[in-house]
Amino acid sequence: MSKIILTGDRPTGRLHMGHYVGSLKRRVELQNSGEFDKIFVMIADAQALTDNFDNPAKIRDSITNVVLDYLSVGLDPAKTNMFIQSEISELTELTFYYMNLVTVSRLERNPTVKAEIQLRNFETSIPAGFFTYPVSQTSDITAFKATTVPVGEDQLPMIEQAREIVRKFNTTYDCDVLVEPEALVPKNQVCSRLPGTDGKAKMSKSLGNCIYLSDSADEVRAKVMDMYTDPEHIQVSDPGHVEGNAVFTYLDAFSTEEDFGLFLPEYTNLDEMKDHYRRGGLGDVKCKKFLLNVINKELEPIRARRAELEKDISGVYEVLKQGCDVARSEAAQTLSEVKAAMRINYFDDDTMVREQQARFTK
Ligand code: TRP
Repeated sequence: MSKIILTGDRPTGRLHMGHYVGSLKRRVELQNSGEFDKIFVMIADAQALTDNFDNPAKIRDSITNVVLDYLSVGLDPAKTNMFIQSEISELTELTFYYMNLVTVSRLERNPTVKAEIQLRNFETSIPAGFFTYPVSQTSDITAFKATTVPVGEDQLPMIEQAREIVRKFNTTYDCDVLVEPEALVPKNQVCSRLPGTDGKAKMSKSLGNCIYLSDSADEVRAKVMDMYTDPEHIQVSDPGHVEGNAVFTYLDAFSTEEDFGLFLPEYTNLDEMKDHYRRGGLGDVKCKKFLLNVINKELEPIRARRAELEKDISGVYEVLKQGCDVARSEAAQTLSEVKAAMRINYFDDDTMVREQQARFTK
């Protein structure tokens, strides 16, 4: 069986370093591993509209930022098909049929949706579109017969929901048209959830604690030098804590032994540096300067590619347009199999009219 990846992002802003360690970097690795027959990365604008329906301009502008972020981190249109969800109307059609295979109470139990409803104060009036987005996400995944869905932990309930719908579809219509997807989650804790520069649990636009992939070198410098460390580490000589210290969490996520050779040769690796910090005698500013070098080494090539891409936005949209064309034909194929399995493909199955005739012929 072919190995197919589908994943995506809601376009609600620029992507940040949390996205980078949590998903983008991995996507580029998967893309370059050569292990997958097809790779689809979708900009989920229709899903983003389910809780931003009053602000389509924000979604529209974010699509441009997200695709610039994709291309600048190294997603390659020759290997990864990038497309816009709302351009593929087949997805909406699939959703309408899948909607029959899931109950309201099952949707109410989805822990991610529950948490999001609370977060958005939707408790008293949940938009139906938002409430049913896990069904639409099942269409995103199954339309491409994805076997593998790289996502964060918070998305596991969506994949479970998709698997249930796939099983229900295949048993109800006695077929094996749909493929049960598997989630692929980040390899470790730091990658799953990079804290914000303020040390809070998550890097998030609404908390204003993000380092964006598109931040300038000056912006990154200001953010790193202002980062949360260990409030008890006041004098350089004080013993310090590395747990819960955002600078060290970021070093866990980004630094390599090579970085020590390049920027901080007095330690051979992060463990040695942490030991020194714990003992006392290693100042925050020195740690931050090292981190800044580490981050800049990672972001510099991304920034340079982005600057080039920004000069030709119509070229960038051409990439998306071609991606949409490919995605549309894949989704159309699946939709026609789905309709055939349900036997609602009235005009492309010759036997259908003959069967109907037979009902009226004694
Ligand atoms: N819900 C995902 C998120 O918020 C985005 C998304 C939409 C997605 N459709 C998808 C992810 C299909 C994986 C597969 O990040």
